[in-house]
Amino acid sequence: MRRPLVAGNWKLHKTVAESVALAEELLHLLGEVREVDILVAPTFVALDAVARVLRGTRLAVAAQNLFWEPAGAYTGEVSAPLLTAVGCSAVILGHSERRQHFGDSEAQISRRVQAALASGLTPIVCVGETLAERRAGRTAAIIGQQLEGTLGALTPSELRSIVIAYEPVWAIGTGVSAGPAQAQEVHALIRAWVRARAPEVSAALRLLYGGSVKASNSAALLGEPDIDGALVGGASLDAREFAAIVRSGVPASCTQP
Ligand code: PGA
Repeated sequence: MRRPLVAGNWKLHKTVAESVALAEELLHLLGEVREVDILVAPTFVALDAVARVLRGTRLAVAAQNLFWEPAGAYTGEVSAPLLTAVGCSAVILGHSERRQHFGDSEAQISRRVQAALASGLTPIVCVGETLAERRAGRTAAIIGQQLEGTLGALTPSELRSIVIAYEPVWAIGTGVSAGPAQAQEVHALIRAWVRARAPEVSAALRLLYGGSVKASNSAALLGEPDIDGALVGGASLDAREFAAIVRSGVPASCTQP
């Protein structure tokens, strides 16, 4: 049985003070939730302050990217050891916004994934097709290519330590989520890709859906057999909305009296 994981990607939003306030509110709303793993990803500058608020609680902290070298003359970069030192346990990698605006290639994402694993951070690796690719019937091919490029070099035991997020680019920030069945179809493809490489890992691997997840659609998405949680952007900036999404991931057997 896979434990649901709901992650909030705060992207380039909120000052340090605002991030701390949001973390405190989430702790208040979600501190007692036991059945769902919860993670928030603030900006680099807010990681330390948010991690201090959440230390010792069930809410974990993730970064939104990292650079693969541990230290050196790399102006403007942040490495895995620096992230673990401030209390991060995970890192989002290969987000489509990184690919689109900052030129992240499969090879670069693969290096970031390996650096995260070497430091004990859980990489949350994002894959997803554009609308043009979907319309051209290339979804499966694109997802396969991205999985191969970013995760193809990992051993089965390394694959065991990752999380994969399916985020169709056309659904991110658009208000148009993939339908549950549409998302499930790609999640099944992703799990099959992992099964072909590491049969002993695939059943336990968590696959998140991301792209316009809200409290109104999360239960249906998370109800699909291969959707084990959500990577939430816009809706994670609102504590109540995010808390409702997290609660929709609580298995029905735990909410019945
Ligand atoms: P969204 O973003 O929920 O605002 O669509 C999701 C993401 O980019 O991770």
